Amino acid sequence: MKLTIIGTGYVGLVTGACFAEVGHSVICVDNDAAKVKLLQSGGIPIYEPGLEELVHKNVSAGRLRFTVSTAEGVEQSDVIFIAVPTPPQPDGSVDLSFIEKVAREIAGAMTSYKIVVDKSTVPVKTGDKVAETIKRYCKAQVDFDVVSNPEFLREGFAVEDLMKPDRIVVGVRSQRPVAAMKEIYTPFNAPIIVTDINSAELIKHASNSFLALKISYINAVSVLCEAAGANVQDVANGMGMDDRIGRRFLNPSLGFGGSCFPKDLSAFIKIAEQIGYDFRLLKEVQRINTEQMERFIKKISDTLWVLKDKRIGVLGLAFKQNTDDVRMSPAIDLCHRLQKDGAILRVHDPKAMEKAKALLQDVTYVENMNEVAEGCDALVVATEWDEFKKLDLERARKALSHPIMFDGRNLFDPQEMERLGWIYKSIGR
Ligand code: UDX
Repeated sequence: MKLTIIGTGYVGLVTGACFAEVGHSVICVDNDAAKVKLLQSGGIPIYEPGLEELVHKNVSAGRLRFTVSTAEGVEQSDVIFIAVPTPPQPDGSVDLSFIEKVAREIAGAMTSYKIVVDKSTVPVKTGDKVAETIKRYCKAQVDFDVVSNPEFLREGFAVEDLMKPDRIVVGVRSQRPVAAMKEIYTPFNAPIIVTDINSAELIKHASNSFLALKISYINAVSVLCEAAGANVQDVANGMGMDDRIGRRFLNPSLGFGGSCFPKDLSAFIKIAEQIGYDFRLLKEVQRINTEQMERFIKKISDTLWVLKDKRIGVLGLAFKQNTDDVRMSPAIDLCHRLQKDGAILRVHDPKAMEKAKALLQDVTYVENMNEVAEGCDALVVATEWDEFKKLDLERARKALSHPIMFDGRNLFDPQEMERLGWIYKSIGR
């Protein structure tokens, strides 16, 4: 099918590349001329495993191209996906101005029946607004359908999640666009659930909030484990073997971050409030998340006492592993707080150092993870990168003034660390 994706961020670019990969003809539109130029010349603006190869392959095959012109995309496609940012506002609600602007642009360019699909994460009832807007701004009186088709990809696994989705959610106001949506997604071999638009929009917010709740739940249990002398990893394993619960997203941490969970949680609480429900359960999820970071910092200051002028090595800056994304990263937040208390930081991340430089200054960026500990008083693990498990512990132990590690991701085994002579503090163990 002929498809256009408006917005070439994480969701838009990966979706466009994957649609092209299964044989659709895809135009990716972005109003950022520099980004489009970069993409046209073979550059990829984000780090996402497998994405570069996929884009290059499909551009060469003639199934994927980039433009700044929404009108061109709308004219030449049957289905137009909106994948623009929906950033948070200070009060927790979502800024929908990019969605509204794109809806107007699409409306202005439509001369025949189109299916307009919202892929961006939006509060319930946004589909109705998009439909109203298109109707108002459409010059030619043409038919159209609005569809909600939320995206569930995780950064770092975006290509994999898109190529092998658990489910495809399609929210519609009439049956007319259903066949086309099924045709687009049939090659992905996933169950397709067709609902009304409001339900589809709610599925997205309810899913992300539930996953965030799962993390806060295990983080709360980790506090109990510390107080009771239990091991949260064993508790999570024991719980996770019940397949009604599942082991995934039960990894205790210094809190969840990223561009989705914190934002979606706030937006869900806000939209609930607007439609008359006080979602206190989710407010508690937020509170536990904030507290988890406070507890971790307290652990550091309880051990090191005065942080002023202490040298601390930090492993990890990205909000999680396999990504260079540092937006709302707990690791960056931690660095800022340590700096505020006067600590001097040496930091390393396998992929996120370039992006971190815009947010985190006055630290030493270290290229090799094994050199981070040099001259430091303690090491902190802030992101769950697998490669940190291969840290040269002996070298780090000798490089530190005292072998102290605060592990915010439980990457190492406490008994083994003790045996190797470390003062090792992790989460819930
Ligand atoms: C999330 C959803 O998983 C995805 O379906 C949605 O479309 C977008 O939001 P993403 O933000 O890419 O994806 O990251 P995710 O893997 O969900 O992790 C979010 C945060 O939770 C990270 O900071 C991660 O480190 C943390 N986390 C995750 C934990 O602390 N413990 C866990 O067990 C899992």
